[in-house]
Amino acid sequence: MCCVRYEMLDSDPNAPVYYEGWYHLFYQYNPDSAVWGNITWGHAVSHDLVHWLYLPVTMVPDRWYDANGVWTGSATLLPDGRLAVLYTGSTAESVQVQNLAFPADPTDPLLLSWAKHGENPVLVPPPEVQAKDFRDPTTAWFVGDAWHVAIGSKNDTRRHAGIVLVYRTVDFLKYELLPGALHEVEGTGMWECVDFYPVATESATGLDTSAPAGPDVKHVLKASLDDDKHDYYAIGRYDASRNSWEPDEPAADVGIGLRYDYGKFYASKTFFDPAKRRRVLWGWVGETDSERADVAKGWASLQAIPRTVVFDQKTGSNLLQWPVEEVERLRIAGKEFANVTLAAGSVVPLDVGAATLDIVAEFTVNKSALADVGYNCSTSGGAAGRGALGPFGLLVLADRDRLEQTAVYFYVGRRTDGGITTHFCQDELRHELYIIKVLLMNLNGFHGCKLPSFRSSLAGDLAKRVYGSLVPVLDGETLSLRIMVDHSIVESFAQGGRRCITSRVYPTRVYGQTQIFLFNNATAGDVTCKSVKVWQMDSASIRPFNDGDHST
Ligand code: FRU
Repeated sequence: MCCVRYEMLDSDPNAPVYYEGWYHLFYQYNPDSAVWGNITWGHAVSHDLVHWLYLPVTMVPDRWYDANGVWTGSATLLPDGRLAVLYTGSTAESVQVQNLAFPADPTDPLLLSWAKHGENPVLVPPPEVQAKDFRDPTTAWFVGDAWHVAIGSKNDTRRHAGIVLVYRTVDFLKYELLPGALHEVEGTGMWECVDFYPVATESATGLDTSAPAGPDVKHVLKASLDDDKHDYYAIGRYDASRNSWEPDEPAADVGIGLRYDYGKFYASKTFFDPAKRRRVLWGWVGETDSERADVAKGWASLQAIPRTVVFDQKTGSNLLQWPVEEVERLRIAGKEFANVTLAAGSVVPLDVGAATLDIVAEFTVNKSALADVGYNCSTSGGAAGRGALGPFGLLVLADRDRLEQTAVYFYVGRRTDGGITTHFCQDELRHELYIIKVLLMNLNGFHGCKLPSFRSSLAGDLAKRVYGSLVPVLDGETLSLRIMVDHSIVESFAQGGRRCITSRVYPTRVYGQTQIFLFNNATAGDVTCKSVKVWQMDSASIRPFNDGDHST
């Protein structure tokens, strides 16, 4: 469909930027192998974030200050039109230093060639920071009379706190470390790939990274937690004069509160797209099979479909993430099913079969059946567990017999205080007992009967989980899902993108023709799928650049 896929290994998105009519995506890349190492910057360009052209690698580890890898960095577009890139170099002694690079030819819209600055490294770890805990400079923002750049670190003297250091610079060559930390959260460990950007609270328009704070502007702080490999964010207030950012809800601070994605999604980075005045989020989606399998297939990792990110004006407490609108141009054949009643325990096949799909579904439930308290996506039995009002939703990347399936579902329950809770979950689990049962049933020729499932894949050697979280559902709202399916990736968005879950799955039985099903595993029934629209998706064009592409 449309995610950028690479040969060999790719990981963190780096320096995404819109420059002279092209969207540029750089990424951590090992050109030699499907496992991490020899990290260089891969490079791809696009006019629409959907169709991509690979360009030659951009920066390779060829200096003492990046001999151990050209690690993650960000781009800043300067007011005079120049592009400055700051990236982390890991030196031959594995010291993390920050380096500056400029396009060697700024008139080349493809930014094919880069010049590392003669004064590199421009920043070395300050005395209080460990040599290996100082990386991933952000896009710089201008405030007062200077640029400001954030760098992630950790402070073990403060109970393993993740921290953000901010440097002030006028010319990107000389830097002053601002006193204190922009923010820190004890117990969260090393903060990688920090991102810091403004969001408008009264409109859906994206803001330039340098947009000043104000009553209608809040700031998002995101950190990728090295300890648990998830991207956490919080929305709060930035006070440049005090070099401080405080979350609106301290109990949901960075690293202990909201995640961008409750599945596999890491080392993400946003950029402001001036062409469409939006903020776009890129995230790395690694493999969940083994390194051995990656080496055998010759590549590893994906970039998720880029998402627009806006403040959720309805809840006031989270972001909304949504696949960029351009992806909808890949929709080719659409079908709609309306008002499907889902009886308790039912599974309803939908007559569509393709491995690349865009699905939009809306459900209503009769809440008089509500009963359960204390649901948890990860520990309450996944799609196979049964409660009064859940799980119900869709099964995707399923084969005809549902020996394999990935379940995307809601579970509506109660809190102990009587309030209603809605969980949004994605189940890729393998339940060993089912395998035996299914084998027995298959041996007996029981095709098409209600089979328990192996879940997402029959293959071994995979990490499979049930992911999920509570999702806010406001009075009068139906339960809504968007699911993008593309062979081995399922990216799901609940309630307009209040919560997202991405899974890598490796079905073995679908052979290009997959099935999807609506299901309701609730005991009380009372679930209606008001509408489900399913589009088959065309392939995006993703190929190496050739000279004729200059004029496209
Ligand atoms: C995150 C990360 C970054 C680092 C890069 C190295 O995945 O560990 O902190 O710069 O990857 O490849």
